[in-house]
Amino acid sequence: MTTETEFYPVPAEWAAKAHMDRAGYEAARVAAQAAPDAFWAEAAKRLDWVKAPTKIKDVSFAKDDFHIHWFADGVLNVAYNCIDRHLAERADQTAIIFEGDDPSVSGAITYAELHAQVCRMANVLKNLGVRKGDRVTIYLPMIPAAAVAMLACARIGAIHSVVFGGFSPDSIAGRIEDCGSTVVITADEGLRAGKRIPLKANVDEALTKVSVDKVLVIAHTGADVPIVEGRDVRFEEAVKTVADDCPCEPMNAEDPLFILYTSGSTGKPKGVMHTTGGYLFWASYTHELVFDYRPGEVFWCTADVGWVTGHSYVVYGALANAATTLMFEGVPNYPDNGRFWSVVDKHQVEIFYTAPTALRALMRDGDAPVKRSSRKSLRLLGSVGEPINPEAWRWYHEVVGEGRLPIVDTWWQTETGGILVSPLPGATDLKPGSATKPLPGVELELVDADGKVLEGPNSGNLVITDSWPGQMRGVWGDDQRFFDTYFSAYPGKYFTGDGCRRDEDGYYWITGRVDDVINVSGHRMGTAEVESALVLHDDVAEAAVVGFPHDIKGQGIYAFVTLNAGVTPSDELRKALIAQVRHEIGPIAAPDAIQFAPGLPKTRSGKIMRRILRKIAENDLGSLGDTSTLADPGVVEDLVKNRVG
Ligand code: WTA
Repeated sequence: MTTETEFYPVPAEWAAKAHMDRAGYEAARVAAQAAPDAFWAEAAKRLDWVKAPTKIKDVSFAKDDFHIHWFADGVLNVAYNCIDRHLAERADQTAIIFEGDDPSVSGAITYAELHAQVCRMANVLKNLGVRKGDRVTIYLPMIPAAAVAMLACARIGAIHSVVFGGFSPDSIAGRIEDCGSTVVITADEGLRAGKRIPLKANVDEALTKVSVDKVLVIAHTGADVPIVEGRDVRFEEAVKTVADDCPCEPMNAEDPLFILYTSGSTGKPKGVMHTTGGYLFWASYTHELVFDYRPGEVFWCTADVGWVTGHSYVVYGALANAATTLMFEGVPNYPDNGRFWSVVDKHQVEIFYTAPTALRALMRDGDAPVKRSSRKSLRLLGSVGEPINPEAWRWYHEVVGEGRLPIVDTWWQTETGGILVSPLPGATDLKPGSATKPLPGVELELVDADGKVLEGPNSGNLVITDSWPGQMRGVWGDDQRFFDTYFSAYPGKYFTGDGCRRDEDGYYWITGRVDDVINVSGHRMGTAEVESALVLHDDVAEAAVVGFPHDIKGQGIYAFVTLNAGVTPSDELRKALIAQVRHEIGPIAAPDAIQFAPGLPKTRSGKIMRRILRKIAENDLGSLGDTSTLADPGVVEDLVKNRVG
């Protein structure tokens, strides 16, 4: 069924009350286009500047003059904007609600307490030798200490690199090495669905491969973890002797705020670098606009702070807007699959923001677990991370939202810093499955493979023709890779890596990645990374990895593996290979299917034809296309015959 004509009009009370209504949206789009400097200078007043910027936008995507600067002579501090400036009026307002993995564990931190905790952590970091510009790796569970650690870095001008708690020791080591972190902040253990995650042990293993000066260990579960003399410092000890106050380091708007590693088509994950002024501005501006946010509302973004969604909407955007932000350590189906909704009731959540993969998993269990809750506190729902299929959208709307709550389907990327395409609840009629339209100041185009601009209703590759303040500023340590990855395919334009369709109404429908990136449960995984992990196994000669449609995860990981001569395929080997990938990267990269193949389809010049492998993995055997250019067309027959799943 086509959904292009299925409209959910803006409810009248939203049009009347929202920060931005239809006319406001149109006016902002025109103003941002006509006079960007004036528009963004005015908008940037939402932040507190030590020195307000007089230079606003200074950008060129052209190869010979490539540069991206926003608010370049502005001076500010992110922690000041997220905490200190709220103290006069909101010292006793809850800044962070904590909901533990164990439903009997929860707590709250006021803005005054957050201020004290961040200052103390900042002073501890200073005592460990951390200075402005140094890199600090954060490997923590979803507990308030993670936000405190990020803000403590921001307060003293250190650059954080948060590594998701599900990544393996090898992944941690690679990230520490790439950005040259001198300090790691971790916890004894994390908790997920009642299981203990050995965070400190993972860091210890990572540090057999790379070294740092200090490891700061926070007690969370209280597990007895070994302490390496001279290197490891227990936070609870170190914090005893520090002051409750720590001045905010004045930072230039273009000073780096953080590095976040993300997967691309080729090579190792790259360190996406965001800066202080433009990033914070964009996180805060979009948080207010898209979620129609009012200070003090309870906002729950279910993403982990190890991903960009957690950075921008659990921590920075939310706190810059004086939110009460909820941090949830657990998972949607523990202790039962009504957990999300009981947490909504328990903490009277008003805005709820999650990923389609979670909705699809919960939807499978029917409506009863949702209906056990009241959800009366909710006023808006959001979705992020992958295309939301119309079925999941309608379930979210009808069952979770009881037909009364707008849904904002927000498209963006680690690279974009914050939301770029989304409905505004007071301005945009909704269509299930469409992220609808770009925010003011965001200029989209669809192009074909040759870069020809496609007009009107059409399908193509999604590019962005001009900069916005939250745009990433570089790949850590590799300027050339930044330009090559995003600006070389279509000169003068930022290439998103996504395919997209635009309908008669000018609505955008993201169709998924067109590069070698797989979106597994809303998490990006590079096929090349999984392949490198597989070929490390002694029995493997070659591996090719592609994505395939998966009911819950959106996309699953399908690996074609060629074994060395003399090795017999077995289930045992299959398990060993999955274990290998979990060990190298982490559980999220574990292949869903492994097919042993005597050979892979290659062109005569030796290039693997992934198009064919994708079709086989998708079980779309009718459209394998032309296989006559293959070096050995016979391999395809075998691959088709022995398809798994
Ligand atoms: C996909 C997550 C469709 C897209 C914020 C993008 C989406 C990649 C949506 C970025 C959405 C994200 N609809 N697709 N609403 N949101 N994506 O860097 O393919 O982890 O390029 O950032 O997720 O993933 P990332």
